[in-house]
Amino acid sequence: MNTQKNNVVIIGASNDGALVADVIEAINKIENCFNILGFLDDNSRLQGTSVHGYRVLGNLNHKNQLPKNTKYVLALASAKKTYRVKKIVALLKLENDDFVTLVHPFAQVSRRAEIGIGVTILAGAHINSGVKIGNYSFIEGNAWLGVNTIVKDYAVITHDASVSGNTEIGNGAYVGANSSILGGVKVGDWSVIGAGAVVLKDIPSASVWVGNPARRVSEVELI
Ligand SMILES: CC(C)(COP(=O)(O)OP(=O)(O)OC[C@H]1O[C@@H](n2cnc3c(N)ncnc32)[C@H](O)[C@@H]1OP(=O)(O)O)[C@@H](O)C(=O)NCCC(=O)NCCS
Repeated sequence: MNTQKNNVVIIGASNDGALVADVIEAINKIENCFNILGFLDDNSRLQGTSVHGYRVLGNLNHKNQLPKNTKYVLALASAKKTYRVKKIVALLKLENDDFVTLVHPFAQVSRRAEIGIGVTILAGAHINSGVKIGNYSFIEGNAWLGVNTIVKDYAVITHDASVSGNTEIGNGAYVGANSSILGGVKVGDWSVIGAGAVVLKDIPSASVWVGNPARRVSEVELI
């Protein structure tokens, strides 16, 4: 039996951090392969505290003091902030194999789906045949990704979102809870689909859309 465990650090100690810790703990129940060292988070009020049962070890710079073999996972799935996540990943200067990809044992992932690096998939998500998920994307509980849908890097598909088949979700696009994206639609890079929205047509990049049918309400600042 392989008893070698991977030390893993969760980047982001907010509620998303708790969701990621839950996935790791669920995987460990089946095969005890991860040792959660704690969180890194730039929020100064959290330093030295414990959240979700684990220590906040320091801010992102603390990475340099962690053991060399440490693996990382992102827990930073906020609307309108996915561009910042891209910048954080660049700042961390980690190699691809420094990130773990986490799939909750209760997620349904087709063997014909492709999942990138540093991706987290929560319980109850359905990743159907031919789906491609890019790097550093975050797929929440009960999200549905229809056949042949493409989710690019840094995207967030939040809980109970329904993304029909042959759809393209752009880099860093954020698909809100209980929203519905019709088949074949393209959601542009860094755009936000509000909770409960119904998207019937292509969405340009870096814009915020809400309602049924979805209407444009604002822009996303790429900072
Ligand atoms: C879309 C969203 C990001 C907009 O946030 P925001 O930029 O702060 O926008 P505001 O709250 O200023 O709202 C702008 C307008 O959109 C409307 N609106 C915002 N979100 C809406 C939604 N989900 N559905 C319908 N209308 C919405 C507001 O009522 C407001 O309308 P008005 O200008 O006519 O008064 C946010 O409301 C949202 O839905 N986030 C996703 C939440 C989610 O899915 N979370 C999952 C967590 S696990």
